[in-house]
Amino acid sequence: MKTAITELFGIQHPIIQGGMHYVGFAELAAAVSNAGGLGIITGLTQKTPELLAKEIARCRDLTNKPFGVNLTFLPSFTAPPYPEYIAAIREGGVKIVETAGRSPEQYMPALKAAGIKVIHKCTSVRHSLKAEKIGCDAVSVDGFECGGHPGEDDIPNMILLPRAADELKIPFVASGGMADGRSLVASLAMGADGINMGTRFVATKEAPVHENVKRALVEATELDTRLVMRALRNTERVLKNKGVDRLVEIEREKGRGLKIEDILDQVAGVYPKVMVDGEMDAGAWSCGMVVGLINDIPTVQELIDRVMTEAEQIIRQRLTGFLDGVVAKVPARAVA
Ligand SMILES: Cc1cc2nc3c(=O)[nH]c(=O)nc-3n(C[C@H](O)[C@H](O)[C@H](O)COP(=O)(O)O)c2cc1C
Repeated sequence: MKTAITELFGIQHPIIQGGMHYVGFAELAAAVSNAGGLGIITGLTQKTPELLAKEIARCRDLTNKPFGVNLTFLPSFTAPPYPEYIAAIREGGVKIVETAGRSPEQYMPALKAAGIKVIHKCTSVRHSLKAEKIGCDAVSVDGFECGGHPGEDDIPNMILLPRAADELKIPFVASGGMADGRSLVASLAMGADGINMGTRFVATKEAPVHENVKRALVEATELDTRLVMRALRNTERVLKNKGVDRLVEIEREKGRGLKIEDILDQVAGVYPKVMVDGEMDAGAWSCGMVVGLINDIPTVQELIDRVMTEAEQIIRQRLTGFLDGVVAKVPARAVA
């Protein structure tokens, strides 16, 4: 399948693996790129620019296909040295950067001077238009259902994607709630040029996270995510667990007066506990509603092949069948 995104990034399939804290290491990024998608290393999971340089080199040993690096500009307790991270990306020869959080405007000159293509992840049409205006090559439009930070507008992809399609000139991928061929075809139908998946990629054999995490994703349903930190205007969709129950309780008690200090135990330093040690009740970690569609732990290659086969079958059989007057029920999930 060819779309504006496969052509922009030089990849086989229009499938991107979004940056994920403590998940987006070289193993996963390389597996996604080797399977024909675009794998992304999460820049800030590497504690220093030197460590990021090593992770990029490690990824290069694992794949000769294009891969990217995510740079997240979120409120953090200590501001990371972004220019040095960008230098590590440039010197590592990486040509694709996924930015997220605040606008990447101030870093665009450095990224563009290095010949880097920038895909900015944003949760609204106005932020997408801003990204287009400042020279981003593409955007990743993150709907309300997404794992991580859906912003404060709460617009689901069924509305957000066609709105983005109506306004944007640059290519965009649909992000949030994407799991299978149905997601891909629906996104293409709504005007996107591909999909970005986060949570779905965590439940794969190559994701370098504790088995408890993968098992929790298979067991959870679409009812098991919670939105936290709304009062701080830093809303995050996370998987419900005992730490998150406590966090929600504190938020209820404090109301609009909530301060980050009130919930530090439930939000700071949680990722290594969950992803490395498998402590599933440690606190808040990002997870999308799409968890309700995750029922297995395939290899990345199996997952991507399945998405593409399913998408093709839906387009060729189910959709063209309707045009050809086939009223018989053709399953939207054609692959066993
Ligand atoms: C465990 C996890 C960690 C994430 N960490 C980051 C991050 O550090 N930076 C970022 O830009 N997005 C992060 N995300 C968001 C993903 O890149 C992606 O946008 C999101 O997961 C898409 O929604 P989905 O989970 O429904 O596929 C994270 C998502 C998950 C599930």
